[in-house]
Amino acid sequence: MNSTIQSIGLIMDGNRRWARQRNVSTEAGHKAGFNALKNIAKEFPRLKKEYGLEYVNIYAFSTENWKRDPEEVSYLLALFEEGMNELSAKLDEINVRVRVIGDLRRFPEHLQKKLLALEEKTLSNTEGTVAFALSYGGRAELVDSINRMISQGKEVTEEDVSKVLWTNDIPDPDIIIRTSGEHRLSNFLPWQSVYSEFFFPETLWPDFTVQDLEGIFAEYYTRERRRGT
Ligand code: FPP
Repeated sequence: MNSTIQSIGLIMDGNRRWARQRNVSTEAGHKAGFNALKNIAKEFPRLKKEYGLEYVNIYAFSTENWKRDPEEVSYLLALFEEGMNELSAKLDEINVRVRVIGDLRRFPEHLQKKLLALEEKTLSNTEGTVAFALSYGGRAELVDSINRMISQGKEVTEEDVSKVLWTNDIPDPDIIIRTSGEHRLSNFLPWQSVYSEFFFPETLWPDFTVQDLEGIFAEYYTRERRRGT
C-alpha cells in the first residue's frame, strides 16, 4: 500500500468543451476552470494533513498554447495575473511556496516580474509548494537542461539531469491526473513522470472537484507501485 501522496500533477483539460456544451464563450470556460482550481486549492491544507500532499504541479499553459487565438491567450494571461494577485494578497494566511516552471521569457515583462516576485517572496514558506507550469514544455525543459550540462562539459548521470531540470527542487509526481478523458501527457513532465500513476477521469476540468480528487487518491491506494522491481 502506498502511504503518502507527496506530489501530484494536474493537467487541467476540457475548459473549451465545457464552454461549448453550455453555449458560452471560451473565456467563460477558462474562468470556470480557474474557479475550479481555486476551490480545490482551498482544500490543500487539509489534503496535506490527510494524505501528506506537499507538492502540486499545475499545467496551466503549454508551449503549444501560444498558438491559440491571440484573444484567448490574452485572456489566459490576464487570468494568471489575477490568480497571482489573489495569491499575493493572501500571503499572510497562506504559507505556501510558489514556483513557476516554464519559459517565462515569452510572457509580457510585467507578468514575468510578478511571477518572479511571488517566487522570491514565498521562497521560505513551509506549508507545501504549488508549481505553476506556465509556457511549459517538457522537451523544451530537457533541451535547456542538456545545453546547460554541455556547457559544464562533463559526463552526466540521471541524478545530474534531475538536478538541472526546472523542477530540480520538486519531487517526481506520485500521481498525474488529466481530466476530460484525454489519455496523453502532452509534453507535461516527461522525465519526472516515469514512475507516476496515471488517472484520466472523463470529467471536464471546470467540473472537477476535491471529491473527484480524493476518489482518485482512494484508487491510488489500491494500486501497487513496483517501480520496475
Ligand atoms: C485546457 O482546456 C486548459 C487551459 C489551456 C488553460 C487552463 C488554465 C486555467 C484553468 C486557469 C488557471 C489559472 C491559474 C492562476 C494557474 P482546453 O482549453 O484545452 O479545453 P479543450 O480541451 O476542451 O479544448
